[in-house]
Amino acid sequence: MARILITSALPYINGIKHLGNLAGSMLPADAYARFQRARGHDTLYICATDEHGTPAELAAAAAGQDVATYCEEQHVLQHDVGRAFGLSWDHFGRSSSPQNHRLTQHFAEVLEAQGLIEERVDQMVYSIDDRRFLPDRYIEGTCPHCGFEKARGDQCDNCGNLLDPTDLKDPYSVISGSRNLEVRDTKHLYLLQTKMADRIRAWVDGHPDWPTLAKSIAYKHLDEGLIDRGITRDLAWGVPVTKDGLPRPGMEEKVFYVWFDAPIEYIAATQEWAEAAPDRDWRSWWRTDAGADDVRYVQFMGKDNVAFHTVSFPATILGSEEPWKSVDMLKAFNWLNWYGGKFSTSNKRGVFMDAALDILPPDLWRWYLTSNSPEGSDTAFTWEQFASAVNRDLADVLGNFVNRILKFNESKFDGLVPEGGEPGPLEEKLYADVAARLADLSEQMDAIEIRKSAQALRALWVVGNEYLQEAAPWTAIKTDRDRAAVIVRTALNLAALYARISAPFIPFAAEKIGEAFAQAWPPAWPTADVAAELSTVPAGQAVRAPEVLFKKIDDDMIAEWAARFGGAE
Ligand code: 2FM
Ligand code: ZN
Repeated sequence: MARILITSALPYINGIKHLGNLAGSMLPADAYARFQRARGHDTLYICATDEHGTPAELAAAAAGQDVATYCEEQHVLQHDVGRAFGLSWDHFGRSSSPQNHRLTQHFAEVLEAQGLIEERVDQMVYSIDDRRFLPDRYIEGTCPHCGFEKARGDQCDNCGNLLDPTDLKDPYSVISGSRNLEVRDTKHLYLLQTKMADRIRAWVDGHPDWPTLAKSIAYKHLDEGLIDRGITRDLAWGVPVTKDGLPRPGMEEKVFYVWFDAPIEYIAATQEWAEAAPDRDWRSWWRTDAGADDVRYVQFMGKDNVAFHTVSFPATILGSEEPWKSVDMLKAFNWLNWYGGKFSTSNKRGVFMDAALDILPPDLWRWYLTSNSPEGSDTAFTWEQFASAVNRDLADVLGNFVNRILKFNESKFDGLVPEGGEPGPLEEKLYADVAARLADLSEQMDAIEIRKSAQALRALWVVGNEYLQEAAPWTAIKTDRDRAAVIVRTALNLAALYARISAPFIPFAAEKIGEAFAQAWPPAWPTADVAAELSTVPAGQAVRAPEVLFKKIDDDMIAEWAARFGGAE
């Protein structure tokens, strides 16, 4: 049994996430976690809300709430909608937790002791009208790299480059719109990434098996040359800056930069998880001096997060010289776009997780978002593609197979798994087909190839329909009841197998199918002995058809949603 630690990028607290966020981190991480648990591996899937920084402050101000209350409420909303989507986090924490405060301050103090943090007087943009400094998202302007006019002070959403507020051309305050800005001196802590460049490069070199997307972004930053990064901000909300455990003189009004404390929350959230029950040990997951050496750590994230996970966070944990576990596999995703453009939280563009569940059950979204995962390149959501994934794959292939065989069994064998007969050549062929495709599915899941895994799963569903078509129990029943019994028994077992292997993708429908066959739940991943796996539902067992598994999407529904959510050209 292996031990597998999984984290997905922590969603910002500033509102329920859109389908793009879900597709590019939390959902594939969940499918992978469910798969590894089914295989019997000791799996820990950790996520949390990312509650600090300007995104939190700006959203709270827009909602007319104080930040702490806003975060508390939004955390619950994100937690609940994530659960409703079937996200099987072992813990969904909060980066504002006391655990994260302590650990963030610990890392800063240790890094300083290692000579990797220093105080610098720096020029920051000050808004005269707002009477405050404008860090990160409090300032916008034109990107010096690509000319995008709404680049934020910390990062350009168009070209992905990391920025400093002073890099922006024609900057303005996001609070007031004022351009009455000046550059003032202020003291901040800097993480000396330049000193760490060789070490980080060697560490990245040690991961040749990362997907190209992750590696190319990491090397782009390394090749361009790392720069020392300011890790404190003139903000009130966040982790206070300390020295020797006390407020740091001259920095009493400052907090750590959100991107300094957010990845540390992966560890702190594991502490939160461990503190909730006596038999849990966070150290065995994160400290290589406490057993984490044999943990395989897999991170899931969108491509805009890769630089922080391949440069900044490693600088923190490697630089500490303490025995922390670092990531083994970094799975990065491109964008899921909304038609031609982007999903946008601030412009409310696209479908958000809560609205998605208002109109359709979670599995339909899960299937579309995994089978069209933005892995190799950016992918555009369209209602037509969505409808096709639901109607053609779920309803016509999986749903049809399960319903057809259960209904047939009800009408011809009184809903009891039929007895009699011996498997013949068609069944032998089926075992071989299923075995080959099952091996492919397991391999693709292990490799975290989400789209290919979905294809392999669909191919397995197709095999069942082909088998039924060829074996034609409706013909056999007229002349050879034993033969019909073998076919029906085999097909029923195949449906039960589908429940087990579909669970990582469509857990709710899978469980419904599983219930029809009284399958143990959560299910174990099938072994390679397909003949044995296809005789686990014994003759004589009562099985009953679940109500409609997948309702089809029609043109009227699409028209209604396109009008409600936008989309189309
Ligand atoms: O880009 C984002 O949505 C960030 N909130 C991701 C943070 S990931 C982690 F490091 F915390
Ligand atoms: Zn840019």
